[in-house]
Amino acid sequence: MAHPPNSPDRPSPASDRGLPALSEARAHWHALQDRQLASRRRALRWAIRIGAVAFGVAFALPALALKTLTRETHGVAAGDALVYATGDQAGKPVLVSAIPPGTAVQAFPQGKTDLADNLIELVQLGPDASPAHLVAYSAICTHLGCTVLAKLNARGDIACPCHGSVYDPADGAKVIAGPAPRPLPSLPVRVGPDGAIVANGTFSGPIGPT
Ligand code: FES
Repeated sequence: MAHPPNSPDRPSPASDRGLPALSEARAHWHALQDRQLASRRRALRWAIRIGAVAFGVAFALPALALKTLTRETHGVAAGDALVYATGDQAGKPVLVSAIPPGTAVQAFPQGKTDLADNLIELVQLGPDASPAHLVAYSAICTHLGCTVLAKLNARGDIACPCHGSVYDPADGAKVIAGPAPRPLPSLPVRVGPDGAIVANGTFSGPIGPT
């Protein structure tokens, strides 16, 4: 609605409102600055949090990998319970009474089954299932590293299926045939009160071909 020039209802000219309008604009500008500053601070806090998480992961992953590697590469040690390597009883303790005279069983130290070089050939030399006649050797052939057979041959010897090496379990796993350059390393074992077979030391020498 139009107002006469001198009407009291006519709005004041902009020059009359100059100071309040300037102050309002400043307040608006400060509020805007505050909001932008708060927004930047929030972004910075998130960046710091993300950086901290990334830093932690960068250190945690190699440490975890090293821990896993260390666990997987543990060799046989005194006190390790020996468990069946394969078959229905895999992972269960091997009892001395469960190995008939003239037979063999392949076992791993419990909790260290990831390392093939830990495979053990337990042989009961007989004439009964006594701990006194129990011997243990590495099950890794010293020729080229094949796994020897779990089953003894017809003469009661340990045989490798790859190139025909044969070892005598009654004579320190001495090589009696084939290209293997040295005996299978032996492992001292004992039998616990419950009849379970336990490692009583470490292998007598390096495992497999050297
Ligand atoms: S790897 Fe056993 S005889 Fe060759």
